[in-house]
Amino acid sequence: MKSAIFPGSFDPVTNGHFDIIQRASKLFDKLIVSVAINESKHSLFTMKERQHFIRQVCNDKKLDNIEIVCFEGLLIDAVEKFNANAIVRGIRALSDFEIEFQMALMNRELNHHCETVFLMTSPEYSFVSSRMIKEIAKFGGDISSFVPPVIIDALKGRNLF
Ligand code: PNS
Repeated sequence: MKSAIFPGSFDPVTNGHFDIIQRASKLFDKLIVSVAINESKHSLFTMKERQHFIRQVCNDKKLDNIEIVCFEGLLIDAVEKFNANAIVRGIRALSDFEIEFQMALMNRELNHHCETVFLMTSPEYSFVSSRMIKEIAKFGGDISSFVPPVIIDALKGRNLF
């Protein structure tokens, strides 16, 4: 059985992430969506909330080969812990490519068996990022094309200032 890990901050998860989740879930028997815990990075949503939102949308979309976990520390250790065969990352633009290329090479250096598979974003999400979503929501802009409804509701209940 081939499985891949899709790591990220997902703070919050966007339709761009779900585009990658849906497409990657067709390429592997199992896709492990792994929410990064980074104590030094301030997150708007807790790890449990971020996992909950992903689970809810995966259930709504009837994606049944998805496992949702979290990890702390090195991604390559999570790859081993969850027995993943590959890392999946989405690429939106050339600017993403440089850092992603570096991360993929470093991860392969740390574990020679670990390949990173890049999926190009669908064009309609090529400019969507969690950071921008929070900024638009903060000033009352319309984010309904970029995130699932559960995130719209969750952002309404937050003080974004
Ligand atoms: O959604 P993001 O913020 O782009 O996700 C980045 C993430 C969490 C996947 C990346 O920062 C990561 O892998 N962090 C774990 C620490 C690690 O393994 N660092 C070395 C990578 S070369």
